[in-house]
Amino acid sequence: MDHFHYRDRSLFCEDVAVRELADNYGTPLYVYSKATLLHHLSEIQRAFAPVQPLICYSVKTNGNIHLCRLMAQAGAGFDVTSGGELYRAITAGGVGDRIVYAGVGKTNVELRYALDTGVFLFNVESEGELHALAAVAQKVGRPASVALRVNPDLPPKTHTKTDTSVKGVKFGLDIDTILDVARTVVGNPHVHVIGLHMHLGSPILSAEPYRAGIEKGLVLIERLREQGHPIRVLNMGGGFGIHYRKQEALPATAFAAEILPGVQKSGCKLVLEPGRFIVGNAGILVSRVIYTKDSGGKHFIIQDAAMNDLIRPTLYDSFHRIWAVEPPASVPVQPADYEVEIPGTRKADVVGPVCESGDFLAKDRHLPALMRGDLLATFSAGAYGMAMSSNYNSRPRAAEVLVDGNKHQLIRRRETYADLVRPEIEV
Ligand code: LLP
Repeated sequence: MDHFHYRDRSLFCEDVAVRELADNYGTPLYVYSKATLLHHLSEIQRAFAPVQPLICYSVKTNGNIHLCRLMAQAGAGFDVTSGGELYRAITAGGVGDRIVYAGVGKTNVELRYALDTGVFLFNVESEGELHALAAVAQKVGRPASVALRVNPDLPPKTHTKTDTSVKGVKFGLDIDTILDVARTVVGNPHVHVIGLHMHLGSPILSAEPYRAGIEKGLVLIERLREQGHPIRVLNMGGGFGIHYRKQEALPATAFAAEILPGVQKSGCKLVLEPGRFIVGNAGILVSRVIYTKDSGGKHFIIQDAAMNDLIRPTLYDSFHRIWAVEPPASVPVQPADYEVEIPGTRKADVVGPVCESGDFLAKDRHLPALMRGDLLATFSAGAYGMAMSSNYNSRPRAAEVLVDGNKHQLIRRRETYADLVRPEIEV
């Protein structure tokens, strides 16, 4: 469910016309719906309520501190993957004992920062990290709580660039050697291994991998306990998929059905690290058509959002629904299926101004005839949209707006040309 809908052929976010936002704040513009954001968090909270989990919003997905603050206020902790994300989480009101920290390359400076912050768990991904953490913890004089991150070696389940639990990727400890690594810190006073962590990949559209992952996890938990590690936390990561094309994603209850029995059997506290499920469908990217042109047998819609604003189509060939903010009467107000021939449309590539042939938001998409100045909405852009944006081609980053009912608030101003060069001038 989301709160983007058409009223009289005009797209609204909650009770605000998207045209009004575009006119007010300019384009390209990220627009978020507070009700949608909170709805999706509560869907997970309700589905997993029987085990009272710690739900750690994954900051990498969308780190805007206003959105993170809403997460904290609604009871979420944070999953961070760098010192910078930890800083964001704290700035947004996050507290250490509700923060988990994953990542294959934590530096000593970051380990120290996280220890000083009192993070709940370090999700440790290598033997080297485990011993570096022990050394830093000894120096600081405060032991670190650790969940060993296992790569459970499951069959492929999502895009190769974002599948984190197949053999041979850089993430986690190899399931075949994790117990050897764990043995090296039995009784170590500086690192307390109290948890097991896995993040299977993202986005995942089936609950089966969670069943398979937890099955392997339960065996490991037993073995780790036999070694003397008092395992009391099971962190199943994030990865729950969302609706990008139509209604293809599972409800949170479907994942809970596979995860809860295993958690109950393990006697562990459950931690989850969802990102996309919470914020993905809570955001759209609004852009304005600059030109249209026909070339080489193709029709191009050149609009002002580009791969620097939303890189997912370029990087993963991802599909995002795109439609006119004010569709003409000759087309359906909102197609049920964007991947079939739609009456009144023609095929077009939706591209941006960046100097790369790989700069596109969509290819061969059925869209109404559009003119210079028309507005487009790219849906399901709340996750890994702004978070992965860049200044490539010296394009100032887009503004972000949060809508709450009939109110709207700028939560990140549009960057200026001066912003682009400021760090170079300040050296
Ligand atoms: N926990 C860990 C350890 C992760 O690595 C990730 C995502 C998450 C949680 C959150 O996963 P989510 O619930 O959002 O699926 N840029 C890609 C996705 C990369 C995911 C990276 N890790 C994309 O745009 O599809």
